[in-house]
Amino acid sequence: MKARIVKLFCRKRIRGPRRHVQLLVATSAVIMMVLFFLIFVRFFGGVASNNPGSPWYYYCESGICKKAEIIENVTSPLCLGICQLFCGEVGGIWPKPTGHTSFGNYMAKLNPYEITLSGVDFGSITGQLIQENVNKLKQNIMNLASIDTIKKGGYSLILNIIGQFNNEAPILTINTSENYTINIYQKDNKLYADISSATYFGIRHAIETLSQLIVYDDLYGEIKITRDVYIQDGPVFPYRGILLDTARNFIDKATILRTIEAMSMSKLNTFHWHITDSHSFPYSSRTWPNMPRYGAYSSAKIYTEKDIKEIINFGILNGVRVIPEFDAPAHIGEGWQWVGHNSTVCFKAEPWQQYCVEPPCGQLNPTSEKVYEILEGIYTDMLRDFQPDFFHMGGDEVSIKCWNSSNLIKDWMIDHGLDFSETSFYKLWNYFQSKAYETLIKANNGNKLPVILWTSGLTNEDNLQFLDPKKYIIQIWTTKTDNTIGRLIKNDFRVIFSNYDALYLDCGFGAWIGEGNNWCAPYKAWQNIYENSPMKILENQGFSKKHKHLVLGSEAALWSEQVDSTSVDSRLWPRSAALAERLWSDPSSSWIHAEQRMLKHRERLVQRGILADSLEPEWCLQNQGHCYL
Ligand SMILES: *[C@@H]1O[C@H](CO)[C@@H](O)[C@H](O)[C@H]1NC(C)=O
Ligand SMILES: *[C@@H]1O[C@H](CO)[C@@H](O)[C@H](O)[C@H]1NC(C)=O
Ligand SMILES: *[C@@H]1O[C@H](CO)[C@@H](O)[C@H](O)[C@H]1NC(C)=O
Ligand SMILES: *[C@@H]1O[C@H](CO)[C@@H](O)[C@H](O)[C@H]1NC(C)=O
Ligand SMILES: *[C@@H]1O[C@H](CO)[C@@H](O)[C@H](O)[C@H]1NC(C)=O
Repeated sequence: MKARIVKLFCRKRIRGPRRHVQLLVATSAVIMMVLFFLIFVRFFGGVASNNPGSPWYYYCESGICKKAEIIENVTSPLCLGICQLFCGEVGGIWPKPTGHTSFGNYMAKLNPYEITLSGVDFGSITGQLIQENVNKLKQNIMNLASIDTIKKGGYSLILNIIGQFNNEAPILTINTSENYTINIYQKDNKLYADISSATYFGIRHAIETLSQLIVYDDLYGEIKITRDVYIQDGPVFPYRGILLDTARNFIDKATILRTIEAMSMSKLNTFHWHITDSHSFPYSSRTWPNMPRYGAYSSAKIYTEKDIKEIINFGILNGVRVIPEFDAPAHIGEGWQWVGHNSTVCFKAEPWQQYCVEPPCGQLNPTSEKVYEILEGIYTDMLRDFQPDFFHMGGDEVSIKCWNSSNLIKDWMIDHGLDFSETSFYKLWNYFQSKAYETLIKANNGNKLPVILWTSGLTNEDNLQFLDPKKYIIQIWTTKTDNTIGRLIKNDFRVIFSNYDALYLDCGFGAWIGEGNNWCAPYKAWQNIYENSPMKILENQGFSKKHKHLVLGSEAALWSEQVDSTSVDSRLWPRSAALAERLWSDPSSSWIHAEQRMLKHRERLVQRGILADSLEPEWCLQNQGHCYL
């Protein structure tokens, strides 16, 4: 239905030579202005006085914007940005709205200086946060073009928050509704955007959507907004995340904030912070200040309490919650040197291949009481700093050989009636996990907290019995065909997909140990990520939609062995935006139908200062439909 309207709109209103120029007008005064422009085009071959006079315009045909020369019979040329708002799917919005949408055929000139907010209690925290979003919106609009190319004037816009919403300090959890509606219309010479949502987070998403409906028209030198829009929207999956590893290489605060900003543009809502590992300990634990002192790469490469607070608050503003991971019992090492008490084993052991999957090796000694004392302090600090609704305990890649190399551990096992079989080592691991879990809950003042663990030896057929699906959510990093997935679903575990065959963004570069490509090459292209549908993965393993409640969502993972602040943006973006649409909209159509919107969204990211990678020559953006296989 919408496609038909667009067709009509494009053919008759834009291309039709004898039609009145109605598209951009709401009042007769504006008609006069447009007529002036038309004469201008005829005589000067250009449109905006400060535009060198692009000879090109765009018209919509079969869902794509086609480029053509502005010749005499073209009465009201459109720039690419405006054509994209009407052509193809959902006005170019990324991710695609999931509920009822309708788009009018009109653009209105917007005065970016006159955007105001109403319908909120400005004294409340929520009211202030919404105001901050409106300020950001204004700033982003002003950044769409250099200030002296934007013509003065235009309609004012009132963002009107209608209906009731939760006005208390906003907390984003897995249960928080993010749904919203937005209605943009013109009345009495003013533009209105009526927004309704039950929560701050829905309102924030609505403002994000609104920002995507505002473009700079470079043919006319004006900021314009789509009018007569109604959108009802909400996510299909509640957990839509990005993992960033800040231990293999330190990632500076500015880059983390930029990552959260970019996430908010695609309505991703979870920043999973893999903050420590064997390589470094940049987290400033208050209980154990020696941890970062011994374990950070330098005193400048530490996340202080203040940094974390700033990141968390920026997350809330942008609809992103932060979940910390303290990975154990493997993936530890640097930072623990001062602890003593044989708290770690095989740290930096050589040859490393015998004890772990990448250098440096290092595991906690589950038999050392000191380990749990240290963990309790770290958990207490992290729970206080992050106040997360989930806690990630890691739990991946435990090496039995590492534990089996320690006489201390083996003596303890004999004392506890265990032999040195694999089964016994899993019992030892379970001993650690159970005790660490109790320590976490103790650190949380006895309050239960859902815990995420990676798939590992503990999620194997024989060992899954050790894990309680009421306590643990499992993050899957094996391939999409791995039967672990089926086992988890059958046993009622809630899962998060990070299957490395689609969602590991570090894959595909040169090896960092040895030569050739890195272990999970090739590079995962955005198309592959877009097609990585959690429900299809379940279906292929014989499950139906009735298991959907067990799928919380997915997460793209950026392990940082070969990335730091200089290159995080281009690894994450725009590929993570493909994940965002998969999770928000769970589209039934393939990436091919999303390609033009994706190219446009990538431009948006760059516009906001995100150093997103280029997917195609810019020529393909300007000559839609010509770059195909
Ligand atoms: C404009 O004129 C050209 C030829 O001069 C013609 O090919 C084209 O179809 C015309 N466009 C419209 C919209 O009538
Ligand atoms: C979310 O909802 C579930 C089920 O309705 C409930 O068990 C759980 O405690 C809630 N979690 C949070 C963080 O509110
Ligand atoms: C929120 O949006 C989702 C996706 O459109 C929809 O399935 C769900 O029913 C909506 N929830 C509410 C409470 O409207
Ligand atoms: C660590 O273990 C060794 C035996 O492997 C023992 O000699 C030493 O005293 C232990 N150190 C501490 C601090 O417990
Ligand atoms: C642990 O090491 C002992 C030798 O000390 C060996 O007999 C045993 O098979 C090893 N266990 C595993 C699970 O590899």
